[in-house]
Amino acid sequence: MAGRVQGKVAVISGAARGQGRSHALRLAQEGADIIAIDLCEDISTNHYALASQADLAETKRLVEAEGQKCITIVADVRERRDMIAAVAQGVQALGGHLEIVVANAGICPLGADVPAQGFLDATAVDLVGVYNTIEAAFPFLKAGGSIIATGSVAGLMPGGTDNPANGAGGAGYSHSKRQVARLVHDLALQFGPLSIRVNAVHPTNVNTNMLMSEPMYKIFRPDLESPTQADAMMAFPAMQVMPIPYVEPVDISNAVLYLASDEARYVTGQQHKVDAGALLRGTSSGAPA
Ligand SMILES: NC(=O)c1ccc[n+]([C@@H]2O[C@H](COP(=O)([O-])OP(=O)(O)OC[C@H]3O[C@@H](n4cnc5c(N)ncnc54)[C@H](O)[C@@H]3O)[C@@H](O)[C@H]2O)c1
Repeated sequence: MAGRVQGKVAVISGAARGQGRSHALRLAQEGADIIAIDLCEDISTNHYALASQADLAETKRLVEAEGQKCITIVADVRERRDMIAAVAQGVQALGGHLEIVVANAGICPLGADVPAQGFLDATAVDLVGVYNTIEAAFPFLKAGGSIIATGSVAGLMPGGTDNPANGAGGAGYSHSKRQVARLVHDLALQFGPLSIRVNAVHPTNVNTNMLMSEPMYKIFRPDLESPTQADAMMAFPAMQVMPIPYVEPVDISNAVLYLASDEARYVTGQQHKVDAGALLRGTSSGAPA
């Protein structure tokens, strides 16, 4: 039986682990070949480790185990020229066509101890990196192409840029995710006449290294000096209306798969939340008062 994205090629940034790896695997399970891009080194203002080359190799192994092709490329989404070269290299290796773009790479340099540079670093990865990924992919996209950018509930809720506990990096993160939401809206208007769709997915807490990190534990447990994962687990559920601490990467991947597939052929400009109700509080969501 043909898969839901059979014969398509997808480029995914931040694909070495976490949600990016999960997106690669889920799209491969439904018949796509994958260009998996990751930085595979740390960024100094971001106080938890980023992925490694071994992680990226593991993504390739998992995609190939599904019977699909996977080209892995170490590249930095902050570097426009490197991304243009990386995407071109991947497209050439996988038959000269590209249908799906998942701009997923991200950092979250949280903490009051993060210097002002953290704002710039977060913005360079989480916002400029999205522009660069789309720019590198655009020359290859044709009618039916689908671009999906990863935002966050942090970009759709008030605050975030003015909370001293989040620090400069946390402010940069919220700023970037807000702009990603705006970018998706405005780009969908421009690309619509080309029949190229642009959507955002906005996750709540996701069970990845970004969430399971000391800077994040401190945000969720400001009452403790050195909170552990177990301490944070008690606070994680406060984020969602549904009684869970976080969603799993595959929950986001299922949304990405839908938006990437032709099932969503007339779905564009959406701010698609996968948030277990996190954003229901404080919004009317268009319901009658
Ligand atoms: N985990 C959460 O709770 C959560 C919630 C909402 C949104 N998000 C967003 O989801 C996306 C995926 O994050 P995740 O949860 O899988 O975390 P993660 O830290 O496991 O994965 C992020 C990946 O991006 C890569 N990366 C970072 N900087 C890069 C760069 N400059 N160039 C290329 N690759 C780079 C990392 O090496 C890593 O593999 C991010 O955009 C993040 O902001 C995460």
